[in-house]
Amino acid sequence: MPEIKQTPTASEPTTNGATPHSNGAESATLKERQTDAIPPPRGRYAHIVGWGYHVPEKVITNQDLEQIVDTNDEWIRSRTGIAERHVAADPKETSATLAIVAARKALEVADVPANKIDLIICATTTPEYLFPATACLIQDALGADNAGAFDLSAACSGFVYGLAMARGQILAGDAEYVLVIGTETLSRIVDWTDRDTCILFGDGAGAVLVAASEVPGGILSVDLGSDGSGGNTLIVPAGGSAMSTSLETVSSGMHYVKMDGKAVFRFATRVMAASTRKVLERAGYTTDDIDLVVPHQANIRIIQNSVLNQLKIPAEKVFVNLQKYGNTSTASIPIALCEAIEAGKLKPGYKVVFVGFGAGLTWAACALDWRTPVERQAAGWWKSTRRQATYSAAAARSMWKRAVRWVYDVLPDPETPGRDENPKETPETPIKETGGERIKE
Ligand code: ACO
Repeated sequence: MPEIKQTPTASEPTTNGATPHSNGAESATLKERQTDAIPPPRGRYAHIVGWGYHVPEKVITNQDLEQIVDTNDEWIRSRTGIAERHVAADPKETSATLAIVAARKALEVADVPANKIDLIICATTTPEYLFPATACLIQDALGADNAGAFDLSAACSGFVYGLAMARGQILAGDAEYVLVIGTETLSRIVDWTDRDTCILFGDGAGAVLVAASEVPGGILSVDLGSDGSGGNTLIVPAGGSAMSTSLETVSSGMHYVKMDGKAVFRFATRVMAASTRKVLERAGYTTDDIDLVVPHQANIRIIQNSVLNQLKIPAEKVFVNLQKYGNTSTASIPIALCEAIEAGKLKPGYKVVFVGFGAGLTWAACALDWRTPVERQAAGWWKSTRRQATYSAAAARSMWKRAVRWVYDVLPDPETPGRDENPKETPETPIKETGGERIKE
């Protein structure tokens, strides 16, 4: 794991006089300022120490969309800022396979083996199945044998919700390493004849490894919100218990995304600014302290109306890459984070905000005091080979476990007399393998 550095600014007061991430006696400063921050336990902080992303190869431009629906490049660019998006055109590419590649990259940056992960949180609106959780398939493919795993459903806010859960696990002392992933194949639930929605979304995955550390900083404060009264403004109506899948739901397109774009737009511009203000206050920061905002990449006008205009944060401090990817929902913030690092926009000592919104309706923000070195150290030949070998071993182990289960299924069961006289056909399990040939790096 890269050494997290305690830079001199770590314990210095911020411009408003408050001490960020204070604890013990210092927390009096925060109390005096009447913030509702809960200081982390002494000596335990949650830092992002690894990051990675992966997008499918296939790119669909606005001009391509002009051939499919009644739209044009000028309208899409001016109303959303989007120019193109990546789409999982290959049926073998799924939310899990994209996530696995992103997760492996994050582990490589952190230089942490998969068996050290305590928990995998996969935020997604396009899971592989209703169950099992996509996180479990990722756990299996990584060979993260000591990890718990679950999916998190908070739509586009899901990644920041995941970071909040990771921080909670770490500050409680229940985990040392938590892998948080946002992954989507939205192209599979978008109606490609509906110009209101199909122009907006893209596919991709981003992952970060969050680690416990004694170095002050990391994820300092979080704000999670929900307003279920707006659930119908952005919804996939069919496929759940409210409207189970039937010929009728499929023929009427109820398994596709339905959206009231204007209502979502109004909601988003309101909550993005409010939530950012909240996490800044909880961390003891002001907007002037912020070096980088990584907002959910849904629409450039939402970012302009909220982060830039309401919060008066200058454009050069706000990272935007939605022109290349469209709205990748839970993956948008981690992909943007990775690209911000690649672009040299993030350095140790920077104060950072992630803020997002999504179906639910939900919103989420967190403020970070970034301490992890960002320069990439090329992995040596031996390390890369060993890492690859552990993934191959994980795939082999998974196959072996399946084989053992299959043998138990077909063997006569001594505890069920008479079973052999009337053998039951074992149903073919439709689950696809994720660890092997489906992963394209
Ligand atoms: N191409 C051309 N014209 C279009 C298109 C299109 N793709 N889509 C709509 N139009 C037309 C409309 O029909 C309308 O025409 P009319 O005036 O003749 O009726 C006109 O353009 C204006 O349409 P509006 O809906 O008013 O356009 P608006 O400026 O609101 O932009 C948009 C629509 C881009 C969807 C915007 O409302 C938006 O971004 N909303 C937020 C959506 C969002 O972020 N959703 C994701 C949430 S994250 C998650 O959880 C998945």
